Amino acid sequence: MKTILITGGAGFIGSHVVRLFVNKYPEYKIVNLDKLTYAGNLNNLKDVENKPNYEFVKGDIVDEKFIQKLFEERKFDGVIHLAAESHVDRSISNPTEFVFTNVIGTVNLLNAAKFVWKDNFDGKRFYHISTDEVYGSLGNEGMFTEETAYDPHSPYSASKASSDHFVRAYLDTFGVPTLISNCSNNYGSFQFPEKLIPLFIHNIKNNKPLPVYGKGENVRDWLWVVDHARAIDTIFHDGKVGETYNIGGFNEWTNIALIKTMCQKMDAKLGRKKGESEKLITYVKDRAGHDLRYAIDATKIKKELGWEPSLQFEEGIEKTIDWYLENEEWLNNVTSGDYQKYYEEQYKER
Ligand code: NAD
Ligand code: TYD
Repeated sequence: MKTILITGGAGFIGSHVVRLFVNKYPEYKIVNLDKLTYAGNLNNLKDVENKPNYEFVKGDIVDEKFIQKLFEERKFDGVIHLAAESHVDRSISNPTEFVFTNVIGTVNLLNAAKFVWKDNFDGKRFYHISTDEVYGSLGNEGMFTEETAYDPHSPYSASKASSDHFVRAYLDTFGVPTLISNCSNNYGSFQFPEKLIPLFIHNIKNNKPLPVYGKGENVRDWLWVVDHARAIDTIFHDGKVGETYNIGGFNEWTNIALIKTMCQKMDAKLGRKKGESEKLITYVKDRAGHDLRYAIDATKIKKELGWEPSLQFEEGIEKTIDWYLENEEWLNNVTSGDYQKYYEEQYKER
């Protein structure tokens, strides 16, 4: 039986990856290591928590001694590393936390893997999950390929870029068998409502203003989270050590077009008059250093590994809105307590 460590498994994407692996690979023991920050929530994994091949370990990847001990005890066969501070706006108000978790935490995991796997990297894999934001911002033309030079602009993307460099350096210097993927914006169930799509679903439902940064002309390339989890499965098993794979859905939207589409769909679902939810749109002060456009060229992963998205955006966004409307309790739980404080702080000066 192989033992696979998944870090950040109680978060948005991590919980989908844990669910996929626990259900698809009964022959693997899946260890989910998560600190349970504001973004981590064990309610995201209720459906798999009692499965015999699943185990949750609460812990902090920044705690070097703890990580070293965990690796020595468990001798993982593979690592899928998702744990991170992941929200750009929070990285603007508190950059240092991003250095600790995203950079130092990643280096701690690499050191522990290097230490316990020494001399025997056979069949081992250290797979680091990264973002397209490391490539910086595009103008109106072009797409990010695996060869695009790194050019991060936010403290979040700078910390992710730094961790990517360490991951590659540990392969080149020490032979740790690493792989990296860089994915575009994800959407779907269990996403913390600080990110655009769940935040706006929550606000539309509650008739609260929809704070659109700047003119709403920034472009993001949206992928259904379940398709990202499928891509992670494909790369973990079939990807080549040392390679980078870009993951995306060829699905670009300006923020304002996406928001209007969500408003229209929610008018229909909530029995509101056409155009009613759009009245909630409020243009607010732009995000500092706001990247204009992200777009992923996902040709390599399709050609080399045969992965492509399973769902078109129209269907994915319908499913997603329905999920948040049907899972009121989940949304209420994560938006109680500290969330209110965060929200007031984040939007008070906009
Ligand atoms: P998330 O914020 O929802 O989840 C992050 C998880 O990591 C949480 O469960 C949190 O508790 C855990 N965590 C944070 N700090 C930790 C620490 N010090 N030790 C242990 N656990 C810790 O993030 P997400 O959106 O699911 O993103 C997961 C990964 O995918 C990140 O590495 C992110 O950079 C990357 N990514 C995200 C997107 C996206 O659109 N959300 C796109 C591309 C790549
Ligand atoms: P976000 O979900 O934070 O993802 P990222 O910054 O990693 O792309 O934001 C997606 C886009 O939506 C981004 O261009 C910023 C914009 N945005 C708003 O206009 N208002 C908001 O309240 C938020 C959270 C984001």
